[in-house]
Amino acid sequence: MSKRVNDVAHPEPLYPSDVIAARLETLADEIAARMSKDFALVAILKGSFVFAADLIRALAAHRLNPDVDFMTLASYGAGTVSSGTVRLLRDVEIAVEGREVLVVDDILDSGRTIAYARHHLLERGATAVRVCVLLDKTADREPQKHADFVGFSCPPAFVVGYGMDHAHKFRGLPFIAILSEE
Ligand code: IMP
Ligand code: MG
Repeated sequence: MSKRVNDVAHPEPLYPSDVIAARLETLADEIAARMSKDFALVAILKGSFVFAADLIRALAAHRLNPDVDFMTLASYGAGTVSSGTVRLLRDVEIAVEGREVLVVDDILDSGRTIAYARHHLLERGATAVRVCVLLDKTADREPQKHADFVGFSCPPAFVVGYGMDHAHKFRGLPFIAILSEE
C-alpha cells in the first residue's frame, strides 16, 4: 500500500477529499457553536489557502460570514525542516481591535507559527484569538501553542496537498498525502 505522492498515477492519500469534505462540515458545526456571530477569520498564508476557502463556505452554510483576511508567515524555506524563526511577510489589513479572531492554519507542528499569530493579533487589540488547524502533528504542547479546533491528527511526516507544499509543489492535490523521501 503506497501513500507516496511521487507515484502520481496511483496516489494513496493519507486523507482523501471526501473524508476532508465531511470533516469540514463537522468542524464548521463546532466553530458555529463556540464562536460569536461577528468574528474575524485570519488565514495564515500560504499553506492554509485551500482549507480556508473550503472552511469559509462550510461556515456560510451555518450562516456565519466572518470578515476574512490573511497574514503571511514563514518559517520554512524550500526544505522540510523548520528554520525555527517565524517571519511576518504580510500583515492583516482589517482592524482586529475589539474583535474575536479565528486564526486558520494548515498544520500545527512546533506551535511557533500559531504562537506568533496569536501574540501579534492580541497585540493589535483582538479581544480573543482562537485557532483552527486542519492537521495537528503533536498533542503535547504549551497552552499558547494549542489549537481550539483540529481537523485531523497527523503522523510525524512531511505532508503535502490540499494547499500544502514542498518547495511550492503539490498544493493543487485535492487530498492530503505523505511526501516521499526520494
Ligand atoms: P510550526 O510553526 O512548527 O507549528 O509549523 C507550522 C507551519 O509549518 C505551518 O504553517 C505549515 O505551513 C508548515 N508545516 C509544518 N509541517 C508541514 C508539513 O508537513 N508540510 C507542509 N507544511 C508544513
Ligand atoms: Mg504555513
